[in-house]
Amino acid sequence: MVPLIDLKTQHKTIASEVETAIKRVCDNTAFILSDEMKEFEAEFASYCGARHGVGVANGTEALFLALLALGIGPGDEVIVPSNTFIATAAAVSHAGATPVFVDCDPETYCIDPARISAAITDKTKAIMPVHLYGHPADMDAIMNIARNSGLKVVEDCAQAHGTHYKGKQVGSIGDAAGFSFYPSKTLGAYGDAGIVLTNSDETADKLKLLRDNGRTTWYEHAIIGYNSRLDGLQAAILRVKLKCLDKWVEARRAHAKKYQELLSDVDGLTLPIEKPYAQHSYYVYVIRTSNRDAFMAKLKEKGCGCAIHYPLPLHLQPAFSFLGGKEGDCPVVENYAKQIVSIPMFPELTPEQVAEAARIIKESV
Ligand SMILES: Cc1ncc(COP(=O)(O)O)c(C=O)c1O
Repeated sequence: MVPLIDLKTQHKTIASEVETAIKRVCDNTAFILSDEMKEFEAEFASYCGARHGVGVANGTEALFLALLALGIGPGDEVIVPSNTFIATAAAVSHAGATPVFVDCDPETYCIDPARISAAITDKTKAIMPVHLYGHPADMDAIMNIARNSGLKVVEDCAQAHGTHYKGKQVGSIGDAAGFSFYPSKTLGAYGDAGIVLTNSDETADKLKLLRDNGRTTWYEHAIIGYNSRLDGLQAAILRVKLKCLDKWVEARRAHAKKYQELLSDVDGLTLPIEKPYAQHSYYVYVIRTSNRDAFMAKLKEKGCGCAIHYPLPLHLQPAFSFLGGKEGDCPVVENYAKQIVSIPMFPELTPEQVAEAARIIKESV
């Protein structure tokens, strides 16, 4: 068996450090808005090269609160990729704004900058690129469009811990960025957690009000906010794991290189690419094949884990049917949604597991 992902093996490598961190939080009862959280916020912001980190409850709320902090709300439109997890667009709806879906680049799977301008209307207030699967969106092109049209940019970095764009970590390029630390993420907590990064003092101050019931002093509230704080236990665990992030991304990249060596000459398979501006972190390793469903059935039968990220583009999701999206609106992602398959990818994969996965994949195409 080669699993798609294996969190237990990773936990074993850091168990004693995690247990020490949990004990420290319990001994100090440092559960809410604690030093533990503040330390992690500073350490993660510094890792990404951003001025501020504001810890929140999860990645969905990181994106939602980032939009609110940038003044986006009812009547506004936000451009998002159709090829992403639903939370990207749900965050826009939570803010009271309307997501406008744009097709993906045929090589990177991320939002296609060439199609963004046509989606801009006089209601557009922001663009939310997603660094999908761990490959960065083309941020220079996106920032140019945004600056020329007076739009904000919120990076969705939920799948992109340790991803670089032109030598910089993602998360510090736009006006704000939201990260998820959902347990399976490249940097995952032991429960739900998230963070917003920004270089703006004003946006960071707003985020701190928004995540903590608008609180200025214990029982004084400047605005009606939310309860969306990064808890101390998750922060302490994330501090342990952040120290391993570079090593884990390196391991993912080494596995991707090996897959490339073993699978690049297989007829009927398309492997992921890495643009010259990118350092891919391979949160998921997505391949394409035209006979996808039969291929996946064979992988499962032979013990090779697999999944689809994502089977239904967002403009066709029932949840967004009220927006009137239809087949043909985003032809690239509609076509790819029928062909994509994610294969085993996690740092602790052994060379034998990579070879075994590749062998099963080859004989199943
Ligand atoms: C692209 C993307 N955006 C947002 C999210 C939402 O993060 P969370 O599950 O922490 O709310 C996820 C995670 O699942 C994601 O993959």
